[in-house]
Amino acid sequence: MLQAASNPSWLVTAIDFNPAHIAEARAWAHAAGLKNINFIEADLSSLAESAAAQGIPEADFVTIHGVWSWVSPAVRQGIVKLLRDKVRPGGLVHVSYNALPGWGARLGMQRLLRTVGLSVPGRSDRQAEEGLKFLRALEQAEAIHLAQSPSAKNLLSRLDQFPAGYLAHEFMNGAWSPCFMADVAEAMSGAKLEWVGSAQLTDNFPVLTLSEAQYALQRQFDDPITRELIRDMSTDNPFRHDVYVRGARRITQAKRDAALMDVDIALNILPESLPLEVPAPAGKAELNPAFYQPIAQALRDGPCKVGALLGLPDVEGRRDNPAELLGILVGYNFATPAARSGAAPGVEARLFNRMATYRFAEGGNLNQQVGVASYRLGVPVRATVLDMLVADCVDAGLTGANQIAARATPDPEQQVALQPIVQEVLDNRIPVLRATGVI
Ligand SMILES: C[S@@+](CC[C@H](N)C(=O)[O-])C[C@H]1O[C@@H](n2cnc3c(N)ncnc32)[C@H](O)[C@@H]1O
Repeated sequence: MLQAASNPSWLVTAIDFNPAHIAEARAWAHAAGLKNINFIEADLSSLAESAAAQGIPEADFVTIHGVWSWVSPAVRQGIVKLLRDKVRPGGLVHVSYNALPGWGARLGMQRLLRTVGLSVPGRSDRQAEEGLKFLRALEQAEAIHLAQSPSAKNLLSRLDQFPAGYLAHEFMNGAWSPCFMADVAEAMSGAKLEWVGSAQLTDNFPVLTLSEAQYALQRQFDDPITRELIRDMSTDNPFRHDVYVRGARRITQAKRDAALMDVDIALNILPESLPLEVPAPAGKAELNPAFYQPIAQALRDGPCKVGALLGLPDVEGRRDNPAELLGILVGYNFATPAARSGAAPGVEARLFNRMATYRFAEGGNLNQQVGVASYRLGVPVRATVLDMLVADCVDAGLTGANQIAARATPDPEQQVALQPIVQEVLDNRIPVLRATGVI
C-alpha cells in the first residue's frame, strides 16, 4: 500500500492467502481512497495456473518480503511459475528470506521452541510463549546450543521485544526453513532471473563487510554466487535481501557512474546527525567530515543529484566515485534515492499517511516506527506515530509546541508535559519529513 500511495501512476497487485490480511488491507486502501492497488486472495502454490492469474498484469518490479523461507517447496515453485509468467524482460525482483549459514546456529532453537509449543494445547501465540519459556529455562541450565552460542543467545535475548503473534508467525510455522543464497538463486533461474546484488547496499562493498584476509580469499573466485557464500560464511547475516533481474545487461563502469551521478538523494536525518564513523569489519570506518559534511549540508532542504553533490566546491576528497557515496549514505540509511526530486507532497500519499497515522495512534504506542508514503521519494520514509501526529498539526497550520500540545489535550498539566516532546519533533523530525517530501 505504501508503494501504491507513493507512486500513484503505478498499478500495484498485492497477493496473500490469508483472507483477514486481504480484508484489512482492502479496508485501509478504501479509507485512504487508494485506487491503484488490487488485492488478490490466493494460494501462491497454484495461482499461476488459475483464472485469477490472467488478470494480473506484467510486472516491472516485484517484492517478495518475508515469504520465501516461511513457505513449503510447493509454494516456492508456484512463486517461481508466477514470476516466470509475469515479470517483464528487464524487470526487477526483490526477495528477502532467513539465510544460511547465518541461521545455522539457531536452527535447534526454532525446532525446540516449536516442538515444545506444539505439546501444549491452545492458540499458536500461547504455544510460542510456552516454547520460549522453555528455551529460556534450558539456557539457564547451560544447554550448549543456547548458552554457548553467541548467535542463539543474541536472538534469545531479543525475543521479548516481539509480540506473541510475531513469535508464533516466526517460530510455529511448520514449513519454515532458512535457505542458502545459492539455492534461492538456482530456484530463481527457473524464471530466468539472475542475481545482481544485495538490496542492503553495504553488502555489495567488500571493504564494508569483509576483513582484508576474507576479501583476498573471496577474490579467488569469479562466480558471484560462490563469492556470496564466502561472504555469508564470513559475516553474521541471518536475513538476506537480494535483487534479481530478468535479463540483466552488463554496462561499462563509465556508463554506470554516469547513471549514478544522475541519481537524486534525500537525507533521512538532519545534516548535524551524520556520524563521523560507521560500523565496519575492523570495528569502525571513519567518514571524512571534510567530504561528508558539505554534502549533508547541501541536502538539508531536499534532494540533490549525486553529481551535483560531488561537484560542490567545498567538498574535499574523491569526486569520481558516486557508487561509494551512495553505498555509504543509502547503505547506512542516512539517505534515500528520490524518484521525483522537486515534487510537492502527493495528494494520495498525504491522504494515506493521515489515515494510517490515526489508525496506528489508536494502538496507543506513539513511539512505534511506521513507514509513511512519499511521492517525492517514491518509496516509504520511516517515522514514529508521534512524528506523524505532529506533522498533521503542522500541515493544519499549527507552528508552536504550545499550540500543538493544546490541540492534543485540554488538560493544562498534560500540555506542559507534552510541549518539550513536541518541540523535539518540531526541531529534529519535521525538517526531515519536509526534505523527504512527506509534508
Ligand atoms: C512474513 S509474512 C510477510 C508479509 C508481507 N510480505 C510483509 O512484508 O509484511 C508472510 C505472508 O505470506 C503469506 N503466505 C503464506 N503462505 C502463502 C501462500 N501459500 N500463498 C500466498 N500467501 C502466503 C502469509 O499469509 C503472510 O501474510
